[in-house]
Amino acid sequence: MKSVQSFYDQLSGQYTDLISKCVPRYNELLYNMFHYIPEDFKPKRILDLGCGTGNLTEQILKHFPEAEIDALDLSEEILKESQKRFMSQPNIRYIQADFREMHLAPGSYDLILSSIAIHHIEDAEKTILYRDIFSALTVNGVFIFADQTRGINEEIYHKHISRWKEEAFKLGSTQENWDMWMEHQNAHDFHTPVNWHLKQLESSGFAEVDIIWKNIMWAVIWARKR
Ligand SMILES: C[S@@+](CC[C@H](N)C(=O)[O-])C[C@H]1O[C@@H](n2cnc3c(N)ncnc32)[C@H](O)[C@@H]1O
Repeated sequence: MKSVQSFYDQLSGQYTDLISKCVPRYNELLYNMFHYIPEDFKPKRILDLGCGTGNLTEQILKHFPEAEIDALDLSEEILKESQKRFMSQPNIRYIQADFREMHLAPGSYDLILSSIAIHHIEDAEKTILYRDIFSALTVNGVFIFADQTRGINEEIYHKHISRWKEEAFKLGSTQENWDMWMEHQNAHDFHTPVNWHLKQLESSGFAEVDIIWKNIMWAVIWARKR
């Protein structure tokens, strides 16, 4: 069985095309991650967790062109794709690291973002990650992430998967693509209900926690440190 890292290393060249056929309303999901950032909030230091080939990084650059951006990912090959994509951007630093072992300095970021990456770690690891993120944010710092979630019971979860399949095929996914995602999901994905995320973020110290968008199993979750 491939590790998460080797899966994304191998997929790196095709990733940007495949993800747009895999995630329903992906552009809308990314749009909403930025729509709810407070108007008066001007982050100077931003972290993109699990940046992949840079789909979210591109949006960060569009919204905050002056910010210093750290683009972090486990996969060396996928980071190379992102580096190629933003060759002329001096304000992006690439970090190959596992977000279970990042050792972020306290108060080092104003904004931490992540799209469709955190479900790759187990729930106990997510709890530690949320505490690390809370500590790494400045006061008033914001954490927004989009991810696949689980239903509150197994029936809802299974219906989410079948709705996802319907939508992925409408977007142009083939049976071969679908089988690949399912093999990867069964080996490496840890989907967790939205309520669990909200409670863990509150327990980590976040003062304001909300779900700001959801479609089938994809949710955008918002948290602010005060
Ligand atoms: C589905 S991709 C999402 C990429 C990008 N954020 C996007 O929206 O297109 C998930 C990414 O998370 C990365 N990843 C998975 N587990 C990780 C971990 N433990 N630490 C750092 N990155 C990880 C993978 O290498 C992959 O690039």
